[in-house]
Amino acid sequence: MEEKPFTNIRSLLRALAKALNLINHEVENHHEQTAYLAYCVGIEMGLEKEQIHTIIYAALLHDVGSIMLEEPASITEIESRAEEYAQIGADMLRDLPYFSGIASVIEYCQTNWQDIVSAGNETLECARMASIIHLADAASLCLDRSKRILNQVDDICGVIEGGREKYFMPEAVDAFLNLRQYELPWLDAMENPSFLMYFTGDMHKVSLQKAAELTKLISRIIDYRSSFTAMHSAGVAATAVELAKLCGMSEENCLKMEIAGNLHDVGKLVVPRAILEKPGKLTKEEFNVIKEHTYFTRLILMDIDGFEEIANWAAFHHEKLNGRGYPFHFGGDQLDLGSRIMAVADIFSAITEIRPYRPSMSKEQAIRVLREDVENEAIDGSIVDLLIANYEQIDSSRDRASREAGKRYFDYIGEKGQE
Ligand SMILES: [Fe+2]
Ligand SMILES: [Fe+2]
Repeated sequence: MEEKPFTNIRSLLRALAKALNLINHEVENHHEQTAYLAYCVGIEMGLEKEQIHTIIYAALLHDVGSIMLEEPASITEIESRAEEYAQIGADMLRDLPYFSGIASVIEYCQTNWQDIVSAGNETLECARMASIIHLADAASLCLDRSKRILNQVDDICGVIEGGREKYFMPEAVDAFLNLRQYELPWLDAMENPSFLMYFTGDMHKVSLQKAAELTKLISRIIDYRSSFTAMHSAGVAATAVELAKLCGMSEENCLKMEIAGNLHDVGKLVVPRAILEKPGKLTKEEFNVIKEHTYFTRLILMDIDGFEEIANWAAFHHEKLNGRGYPFHFGGDQLDLGSRIMAVADIFSAITEIRPYRPSMSKEQAIRVLREDVENEAIDGSIVDLLIANYEQIDSSRDRASREAGKRYFDYIGEKGQE
């Protein structure tokens, strides 16, 4: 297929940053604030546009490694284990197309300047960019919502100046202190730090093929939160693509289905791990939290350029033809083929996956569950018929994709456990 442009890096990264904000509301804005302040320092230092882009993105994603924390952590906990998480974050991003430069910056962005210097790395471009983020990160943590921002500037600058040479690169400290003469950077940092993503950022075009590759890797970030879901997105994507092909969807739409499958549960980042991993029945309140996830999937995906259709296919996977799904309560007349396929793919993958608290269902059991759902007018009978007619082929694709994803995850956990 011809590699024509489909979306862009700015859009994808902005969505990813938004997704990371879901994990902990206390952290909300922290990533954008860090990116915004780092951007101001970079501009003040006269850095090149390319470097500014790298700094913005690395700052947005600097806490990505904290996704591996056992429980949703407070920002203070994340910061206290910062170097460890910087390393994990860098490892997670390193092999993503376009992300390798960002990964090397993230690796250093919690390292104090004196350690960078004593390792002889003070001229390394990534270490220098990282030091700007390290400073912006610290400054962001000083911002206090309960006080007027312009009355905090001197104190914040005092803290940063106190870290010159020891914690922060001197040139970055000087540039930061220059911001004292302005009001706008401080007001924006406090009130509207994400606005810069709309004006700056890398519009580097990405083809549909590349976007699918990228989202496969982004889904790893989503799934890594829990061993219970470590292989789920991959299985849903593989099942959805098989079903899409059988339904005669174009090659282009099959790729879109793959992306929708990879990202369908991105909104689950809003669900605390204790609920995700609860083996027994959920309380009404807990289930209410679960019900939020597809709303957030849509919120995150609908802003990505070119993702209008993908956002719907991904976000409607818990809608039912009888209108009894959640949270949109769309009925059959509003659910198109892509959304219907995604609903079947999600149920099929969930019941045929092994979960730590239960074995996977046999073919007979799975078919019984799917048929029941068709009888209840929850899911599309013709798609289920296609699935049953091609069961072995679809199930082996799903299984292969799940195993691959699961192996990566458990290898990773294993490595971390042995260190
Ligand atoms: Fe879901
Ligand atoms: Fe799912």
